[in-house]
Amino acid sequence: MVKHHDFKRCDQSGFCTRNRALADYMSKGNHEPSPYQLDATSVKYKDGQLVGSIIKTLASGEAVKLPLTISFLERGNVRVTIDEEKRRKGEIELRHGSVARKERYNEAGAWALTGAGLQSQKTATFKKVSKDASQVSWGPDHSFKAIIHHAPFGIEFWSGEEKQVVFNDRGFMNIEHWRPKIDKPVADENKTEAEPVESAEDESTWWEESFGGNTDSKPKGPESVAMDITFPGYGHIYGLAEHAGPLSLKETRGGEGNYDQPYRMYNSDIFEYELDSPMTLYGSIPFMQAHKKGSTVGVFWLNAAETWVDIVKSKHGSNPLTLGLSGGALDTHTHWMSESGLLDVFVMLGPTPKDVAKSYGELTGYTQLPATFAIAYHQCRWNYVSDEDVKDVDRKFDKFNIPYDVIWLDIEYTDDKQYFTWDPLTFPDPISMEKQLDETERKLVVIIDPHIKNKEGYAVGQELKSKGLAVKNKDNNIFEGWCWPGSSYWIDAFNPAARAWWKGLFSFDKFKGTMSNVWLWNDMNEPSVFNGPEITMPRDNIHYGNWEQRDVHNINGMTFHNATYHALLERKKGEVRRPFVLTRSFYAGSQRTAAMWTGDNQASWSHLAASLPMTLNQGVSGFPFGGADVGGFFGNPSKELQTRWYQAGAFYPFFRGHAHIDTRRREPYMLGEPYTTIMTNALRLRYALLPAWYTAFQEASTDGYPIIRSQYFVHPDDEKGYTIDDQLYLGSTGLLVKPVTTEGAESVDIYLSDDENYFDYFDYTIYSGGSKIHKVDAPLHKLPILMQGGHIIPRKDRPRKSSGLMKWDPYTLVVVLDKKGEAEGTVYVDDGETFDYQHGAYIHRRFSLSGGVLRSSDIGTKGSKTASYLKTMKDVKVEKIIVVNAPAEWSTYTEATVTEEGTKGTSTAELSFHSASGNKAAWAVVRSPGIRIGGVWGIAFPGASSPKTDL
Ligand code: GLC
Repeated sequence: MVKHHDFKRCDQSGFCTRNRALADYMSKGNHEPSPYQLDATSVKYKDGQLVGSIIKTLASGEAVKLPLTISFLERGNVRVTIDEEKRRKGEIELRHGSVARKERYNEAGAWALTGAGLQSQKTATFKKVSKDASQVSWGPDHSFKAIIHHAPFGIEFWSGEEKQVVFNDRGFMNIEHWRPKIDKPVADENKTEAEPVESAEDESTWWEESFGGNTDSKPKGPESVAMDITFPGYGHIYGLAEHAGPLSLKETRGGEGNYDQPYRMYNSDIFEYELDSPMTLYGSIPFMQAHKKGSTVGVFWLNAAETWVDIVKSKHGSNPLTLGLSGGALDTHTHWMSESGLLDVFVMLGPTPKDVAKSYGELTGYTQLPATFAIAYHQCRWNYVSDEDVKDVDRKFDKFNIPYDVIWLDIEYTDDKQYFTWDPLTFPDPISMEKQLDETERKLVVIIDPHIKNKEGYAVGQELKSKGLAVKNKDNNIFEGWCWPGSSYWIDAFNPAARAWWKGLFSFDKFKGTMSNVWLWNDMNEPSVFNGPEITMPRDNIHYGNWEQRDVHNINGMTFHNATYHALLERKKGEVRRPFVLTRSFYAGSQRTAAMWTGDNQASWSHLAASLPMTLNQGVSGFPFGGADVGGFFGNPSKELQTRWYQAGAFYPFFRGHAHIDTRRREPYMLGEPYTTIMTNALRLRYALLPAWYTAFQEASTDGYPIIRSQYFVHPDDEKGYTIDDQLYLGSTGLLVKPVTTEGAESVDIYLSDDENYFDYFDYTIYSGGSKIHKVDAPLHKLPILMQGGHIIPRKDRPRKSSGLMKWDPYTLVVVLDKKGEAEGTVYVDDGETFDYQHGAYIHRRFSLSGGVLRSSDIGTKGSKTASYLKTMKDVKVEKIIVVNAPAEWSTYTEATVTEEGTKGTSTAELSFHSASGNKAAWAVVRSPGIRIGGVWGIAFPGASSPKTDL
């Protein structure tokens, strides 16, 4: 059970309580208007950017100046930034002699943004529409407009004729300005009358705050930023990773079925996290998509401090707090609250989920294109106990013909939890272990965490300390806390010198016992501090640049895995390869350098079920390379549960079996029959589909689309799919998977949205789409997978020990005809290891079948390394083409005609036809057509409009 008392609820957090109280007050009616006004005389507009001053008028009449910048960006996005003049200028006093920076934290963008997509659209036009409002039009054909209300300050964002997003609609905007602490006179016990209260505000959490026996000294006083953001007409919100709950986010202010706590984002090591909860988890991505039929919009709240988000829905156009939800369109109202930093928000006006994903990806970076092995299967446990143990597990996988690519070592491999060392007794010869793995192109991943053991004689720890590269405490001395090694220091990866030092530690001559097939796992980087407040660092700790922990908290984990990524890029001069780093903590932008997993789940059916919306939500949140511990971390799964988990895991972008140190061994070969075979088949399925996975990753790496996609993303106009989060699509392949997540299930219900045929992946049973739910058989050995008509899916069907050994294997293309007898698909191929693809060393083909001719055309862009790469691939062929739902007319033919550029004339290939039977579709197979995967070719099927294919 999660220890609730270790983690704050909103009412135990000063700024959350204060902002919720303001929200309640503003919602009640008869209140003062929001005290924020844009000073019209301050407004200046130039080249797509508006600057001005917002004035917050205090009860005393005093005016607080808040500089405002609104940038109307090229892709139709907009960025609104609000700062505080006094803090910006450093005209404040810090208490307790703190060395902390005086400004509001303004470097979140330096970590999260790539710099792309930030140019203002110079053609945006500004006009004053009334004495109290201005308007800017921008975006494609100037179809977007922002109406900026001056008093109270607020912004409406319109696309076409519809209002899409509104800032400060409900007047919850709150920028807690700096003020000096006025010490109240100590009450005189002899006086009978109390001193008059100076302020009606509750100051009890302004100057220090205690929780769980720890006191936060808050040298900067209250500093929170908050605002309400309304999505008129939008009934669904997705995103805000990471939480264990449904994909469509719930309301958070009570009521039946709702949460009574806001979604919290404060990266934490939550022991035994609970499901269906707005509690924070290990990572935070303060980005959401609001979705309705015909439109999707996005909001990215760029703030690295602790953040809470309340969500309420109301009948469209009504007051949220007074009307029920019955029927009709809904408005969704969100309330964002962060402890410190700038108010810095991006709005993306879509209008499709793909547009929003692409815009967000442009800003924060697209997902890295991983090395091929990284998307194959990973075998982990806490712990493989010795190098002999690893070798033995490796041999057993081979003995049982089970594919896997990577075996992992958890913390016990080290000498006394000193990272960059090996336990001399249990891992006396790591190199021979790595060599054995390398024989089958397998890899090793070892864990290295950010806590560095504080021990005399441990060089890494001593250097960290002597070079001053560790995080400091509030008194500006090295911070010491407890984690796995006992007393530890934490590397401050915000510091460029710390990152340079870190990089040095990974060179082959420094990190002895590692070869080039060794990669990294970064855990506990929230950071987890066993004796710290909420199991993390004190908020008043000091990082590089004198920023407080509170300011940078949610970015901390990302700076660490970024540092590791850069350390691994080139461990030996000239050996530049795509690094693999797994991280537990993350932020917006983590997708550029790492994969993530959902942390310490449990071996239960409910955790298996929860892993689907969580993994789908990672896709919505722009960090799609994720998955859950397969089998469940805590506890021992039943054989059935584990088997089902492997079937589901075969459709996580990151696919790793992992287990707690106290659990029984559970490598797939341990379970016995029929389980071992069923799990092996799930693994083989993953391996066969690796070309499709890799293609989906490539798409994510250029367009920002999720790798596994939820129903609303694929069918954005079908309202029936908006809450479906237990079935998923793999990339653009049309593969629709519904993992079984209930014990003893014999079937599952699959919802088919569009009016197209779907076919069972294994036996081609036809299911008709069009808003229908089908019961699909799912006995234990079967993972329900359907193929949507109209797609071409690339596969490699030869079972191998590892993905590395499949490199030169031939392809199978599965052509799934739609109702018109057509299909389309793509494949992306490169060396799966280096960055040569950035110089054109790749194959990117579009396949399309229409008019009875299947063609392959080039959709790549040539570069300096294209020709040499294509040479290496010249013998890699398509060995088989399966056409599902093949026309009956083909039944009397035995040949298809093949044309390939660079070969003379045409040739023929054997065609076999299998008639439809019962509700199973007909299918045909073309064998050994002799065509290259990277070639320009065409295959004419019987009755093709032209028997010759014009290429
Ligand atoms: C944390 C990780 C878990 C790992 C353990 C030991 O609990 O989440 O995956 O096995 O630490 O390193």
